[in-house]
Amino acid sequence: MNRWGELARERLSDRRFLHVCGVVDTARELAVRYGVDQEKCETAAWLHDILREAPASELRSLMADSGRPLPEGDAATWHGPVTAERLARDFGVHDDQIRLAIAQHTLGHPDMDKVAQVLFVADAIEPGRLFAGVERLRVAARMDLLLAVACVADASIQFLLDRRGSIAWQTVALHNRAWLGIDETVAMAYSENIKLIP
Ligand SMILES: [Fe+2]
Ligand SMILES: [Fe+2]
Repeated sequence: MNRWGELARERLSDRRFLHVCGVVDTARELAVRYGVDQEKCETAAWLHDILREAPASELRSLMADSGRPLPEGDAATWHGPVTAERLARDFGVHDDQIRLAIAQHTLGHPDMDKVAQVLFVADAIEPGRLFAGVERLRVAARMDLLLAVACVADASIQFLLDRRGSIAWQTVALHNRAWLGIDETVAMAYSENIKLIP
């Protein structure tokens, strides 16, 4: 385990740390499969939830210290943008792709690059995730990265619709953009492949 792993183990509960380890492993697999920078994907995965258990008051003061407003929306989604904002100063990571991947990991974003896409998908399908429909997302992740991104965005939108939750524009725009980029034959093969998967 590298220094980011040590930091995650120090800062997070056992349950959350286990999730982060699952995301790192899954991000590594996806990076290899889709030819994305493995080290960047792993670093983004180690750090993506590093402030997930910080109280809202701490996130608020970290942003105030940076002279930036808190993001809009649910406090549970703040940890991504706040970690991204503090990445260089508090964690010594100066890479823009890693910063954006962490900023975008909770809501998604239509402009996500491959590193961000890998983190977004890995966060949803790591082995500790057990929600209904996760097997379908794993099928998509073995077929095509953009397909997996679209399916994860859709699962998140569906989850919020079922609970009458509010859906961030970033997730809706991601849904629209991602499906536009997916070949019809890939979409059809996916529908075929998940026919028997709950
Ligand atoms: Fe997160
Ligand atoms: Fe996560």
